[in-house]
Amino acid sequence: MSSSIEQTGTDVPAGTDVPAGTDVAADRVVVFDTTLRDGEQAPGIALAVAEKIEIAEQLARLGVDVIEAGFPAASPGDFEGVQAIAQGVKGSAIAALCRTRAEDVDRAWEAIKDAQHPRIHTFISTSPIHRDKKLRMTREQVLAETARAVAQAAAYTDDVEFSAEDATRTELDFLVDVFTAAVENGATTINVPDTVGFAMPREFVEILDAVRARVPGADRVMWSVHCHNDLGLATANSLAAIRAGVRQVEVCVNGIGERAGNTALEEIVMALRTHAPTLGFTTGVNTREIARTSRLVSMLSGYSVQPNKAVVGGNAFSHESGIHQHGVLMERTTYEIMNPEDVGLAGNRIVLGKHSGRHAFVDALRTLGMTLDGPALDRTFARFKDLADRKVSLTDGDLFALATEESGSSSSATGETWSFQWLAVAGGTDTAPRATVRLGRGEESVEADGTGDGMIDAACNAVAKAAGVDANLIAFQVAAVTPGSDAVGDVSVQVEVAGQRVSARGVSTDVVEASARAFLNAVNKVLGGTAVARRTDKP
Ligand code: KIV
Ligand code: ZN
Repeated sequence: MSSSIEQTGTDVPAGTDVPAGTDVAADRVVVFDTTLRDGEQAPGIALAVAEKIEIAEQLARLGVDVIEAGFPAASPGDFEGVQAIAQGVKGSAIAALCRTRAEDVDRAWEAIKDAQHPRIHTFISTSPIHRDKKLRMTREQVLAETARAVAQAAAYTDDVEFSAEDATRTELDFLVDVFTAAVENGATTINVPDTVGFAMPREFVEILDAVRARVPGADRVMWSVHCHNDLGLATANSLAAIRAGVRQVEVCVNGIGERAGNTALEEIVMALRTHAPTLGFTTGVNTREIARTSRLVSMLSGYSVQPNKAVVGGNAFSHESGIHQHGVLMERTTYEIMNPEDVGLAGNRIVLGKHSGRHAFVDALRTLGMTLDGPALDRTFARFKDLADRKVSLTDGDLFALATEESGSSSSATGETWSFQWLAVAGGTDTAPRATVRLGRGEESVEADGTGDGMIDAACNAVAKAAGVDANLIAFQVAAVTPGSDAVGDVSVQVEVAGQRVSARGVSTDVVEASARAFLNAVNKVLGGTAVARRTDKP
């Protein structure tokens, strides 16, 4: 099966940096998205399989070339997620990460073998500190492992990526030897990760120039970079690498990932687009899907986007000072280098009100790129009606938040899971907070009271009692979906349920209710068996 990335575009001109034998045009940058792998490694993120599929489908719609779907050897949940994406998501290549261990490579292939375009991505640490302290391996052992694992992967597929973890802190001669072994044994993409975000643009380019000049066969492979943001330089380093001739960048939506995160997809794509007249690079990304993808990842991961975040932050296109506002009113480009519509921010259009019917509702969801049916649609429509009673007008953002919560939740009250029926809270500065909640399951209906440090704590304790589980709130975050005092609050929680840590979301115009719903959604993930256990051995 051919697994090279299909590109539209012009023929590769002679003498360019693009490897012979790939279909990639010289000016085309391959976008490798690792939101579901490196992004999911950010503390507190634990996506259920259905959530991973939802994100992967949106990434394919966004037009990324490669989706790194996970690390199948890490846990059965990871394997299941990668396999489901490989089997169901079309249009992008699907990559699975694996260490160089033989059983890891086998497991990666097993998970992705049904993909339209499967890619095995194997890696090993190469820096002295990682070799000595983490792997306890000699250089010779690392070289042998690289050669063996890449050859094993290449026997499965003709699309094999090799990464030298902590490449930027590796002795240059040894890095050249490792990459040479990978190319000789069949790697088709060579990735140079700045694993700890240590590099600076000029030094990074020097490393890239050196390895690309010295590795025999360098012109036959795709060169890639994977930058972390510990010094806030991930985007700058990735752009410098592209200008130096690298043609694959590894990125995450909203820049999520280990520690300070990875290079932000939206920043790279919009920087290349904004500077296209001088740099001349293109990507396959449909930029109008950027805002929607950002919102989806933020909602499902529970990582809200900082207001001043480049491209997708709430303030990225707001103008506060009078001088700026005046300028933008006269001519938008006085203070805006990008058009908000180009990233899919058409503004918060009012879409529906309390008199809107089911057809209009389904239509509005379709416009937002969401299709719900069956019980999920019934639940979401009922919630919409309830919300429309409390809030005069509903925007795209409100609908999106509601539908994402309902489609991602297992609150259909079937089997083991519970549905939220109502909540009452009481308390004040001089009164102890108290909450009563009613949950339903089939014919069963249970009410329970809870007390706590505050109303939210009391409501969550009442939910845990009614559901009959031992559950504790670990982390809590609230964001307003839209401006205004009747804004829909979007609450993300991390909850420990029966010893298992899960994240979930809930939305409502009432923050206490949104919190109770989020808490219940987390409990339901564990009761319904859709939670993914946290891994301890991630790279
Ligand atoms: O940061 C890193 O080095 C990685 C590799 C596994 C590519 O995530
Ligand atoms: Zn990484």
